[in-house]
Amino acid sequence: MKADVITADPEAYARAAETLHAGGLVALPTETVYGLAGDARSDTAIAAIYKAKGRPSNNPLITHILSGNQANDYALISDLAGNLMRLFWPGPLTLVMPRRDSDLAPRATAGLSTIALRNPDAPWTEGLVLAGWTGPLVMPSANLSGHVSPTTAQHVLDDLGDRIDLIIDGGPCRKGLESTVLAINGDTATMLREGALSRTLIERIAGPLETANPDSPLASPGMLARHYAPQASLRLNATARQPSETLIGFGFEYGEPTLSKSGDLAEAARNLYRLLRALDGPDARLAVAPIPNTGLGIAINDRLRRAALGR
Ligand code: TXA
Ligand code: MG
Repeated sequence: MKADVITADPEAYARAAETLHAGGLVALPTETVYGLAGDARSDTAIAAIYKAKGRPSNNPLITHILSGNQANDYALISDLAGNLMRLFWPGPLTLVMPRRDSDLAPRATAGLSTIALRNPDAPWTEGLVLAGWTGPLVMPSANLSGHVSPTTAQHVLDDLGDRIDLIIDGGPCRKGLESTVLAINGDTATMLREGALSRTLIERIAGPLETANPDSPLASPGMLARHYAPQASLRLNATARQPSETLIGFGFEYGEPTLSKSGDLAEAARNLYRLLRALDGPDARLAVAPIPNTGLGIAINDRLRRAALGR
């Protein structure tokens, strides 16, 4: 059985709400990447998510809330966390905070004392509410574990088409990179995952961010080095193609394929996973032009380094 792919509209959101109420899984487009959503209050739905993705059980999930106002039901919110939510939600920022006792299933937080919360910027948040669903959703990226995140409905179909019931097609994702994950401890913010909300913007509000110590319990288990690995080999900071390589450009001096001909980092972020998926293969040899390490370039370079580590 292949998953049904339906265009994002009110009828689709009604179908999604019905599937979620029944404990099923739905792939939904967010501004970052496509996510695989299930009821965060249902251990059965969560178990099905881990199974469909082949995800290691020690890698915790992000709980997605449909309105920022729901955060207080699940987490202890410091002043700093509240400020970040008011400025950047809905949007591509995930906050890891001390957990409150709530109706979430134990597996939603993988036994941790913290919870990762995000309020995504997507039309279906309102669509689901109008269709009668207001609950929290766990939603990892809708790819097989260890694969590149999906930025189109077709990517989800390629990875999970045989394993889930429903995919809502909202076209290509606007950001193309996963949300930025910050741990908030009182007035201290620690970067756990660079992402679609640039560090530069966050630091204007939060001041200089702490860097996660990879050995500390705060560190994000999902940031294992080889998390974002394509099958292809990948050479970084390449200014010329070597024989049998495909060179992915950035800027006017490079041809096709390119992350962004005009050297635009937001466009490069949108294109990154699409190109990695399109050009991937067991024998593929890829090289990527230098990407400036500023703004969104920091997250792009982070994902490229992980992809280059390979298997
Ligand atoms: O943009 C996104 O965040 C996408 C879309 C679908 O919303 N979701 C996503 O989820 O990227 P996932 O499961 O692929 O990544 C979740 C990340 C992992 O690195 C995980 O380790 C981290 O969040 N995380 C979740 N809960 C955590 C916690 N309590 N403490 C530290 N890290 C946590
Ligand atoms: Mg993921």
